[in-house]
Amino acid sequence: MKLKLSALFVGVTAAAFSFGAFAQQPIVIKFSHVVAANTPKGKGAEFFAQKANELTKGKVKVEVYANSTLYKDKEEMEALQLGAVQMLAPSLAKFGPLGVKEFEVFDLPYIFDGYDKLHTVTTGEVGKQLLAKLEPKGIRGLAYWDNGFKSFSANTPIKMPADLKGKKLRIQSSKVLEEQIRALGALPQQMAFSEVYQALQTGVVDGTENPISNLYTQKMHEVQKHLAITDHGYLGYAVIVNKKFWDGLPADVRKQLEDAMEQSTRYANQIAKVENDESLEAVKKSGKTTVYVPTKEEKAAFMKALLPVHQKMESRIGKETIQAVYKATGFTPAK
Ligand code: LMR
Repeated sequence: MKLKLSALFVGVTAAAFSFGAFAQQPIVIKFSHVVAANTPKGKGAEFFAQKANELTKGKVKVEVYANSTLYKDKEEMEALQLGAVQMLAPSLAKFGPLGVKEFEVFDLPYIFDGYDKLHTVTTGEVGKQLLAKLEPKGIRGLAYWDNGFKSFSANTPIKMPADLKGKKLRIQSSKVLEEQIRALGALPQQMAFSEVYQALQTGVVDGTENPISNLYTQKMHEVQKHLAITDHGYLGYAVIVNKKFWDGLPADVRKQLEDAMEQSTRYANQIAKVENDESLEAVKKSGKTTVYVPTKEEKAAFMKALLPVHQKMESRIGKETIQAVYKATGFTPAK
């Protein structure tokens, strides 16, 4: 009996000690992403790391891994589901392979006429419902972060859709983007973001589409002679976490992290446009790329070529999702 009691005592002490040691160890959140640190997403991630540390009083340590240093596009989704990383902010164009095709509604050409229209979706009911679709995949969607509107680049001038005909254009892993490129008579080449610069440099692809902050911070402008400000589609992010990890956090810590995320979202969405505008100025100043702003007529020609993609992709995205976005933004498809 004596022996048993002392064994129990040792056990309790060990448990208390290990709990104490555990309590002092910060909870680590690995936040992996694929873009440069000096982009809207990169800065948003760093801001979150700081806020999380501040609001949890050091109980949470967020480690940010930028520029695909930890995982590339496809790998990072798998790593999140396996719990090898806890937080990501993939582009909304990268949720199709996960089986959540509805997110590709964000890729429809010209569906958002500016950030304000887009926010009617991301801050509204539709945005909430889309994030909820991630739950059965073991993922919790926390927020939407902006980047910006995409433009086409290539090594030959781009004024009209016909200028992209036959070109190999790199896209993200979205079927809507694939269809968009086909609608231009061009050839879609899906590829991880980390491989784009080299693919452009070596001629594996002829061109691409991206918000200017991505083009500039990856130095793509150094290997693309022409950039047309087409603003033909949106690129933004869903900040996501491993659901099991998130649900397992102490309630007070989770609340503090939610506050940190709310502040970071405000910050990221505030800087997105400025970052893209500044990148455009930097591209112009570099003298390496000719920047062209299509005329009203040229813009109309791009719209005419690309708007049929909406209807074509209805069966993939789902009519209700598309209609819900139209309703939120006031977009009226041409009859
Ligand atoms: C891309 O692959 O072009 C983008 O999704 C990269 C990013 O995360 O902005």
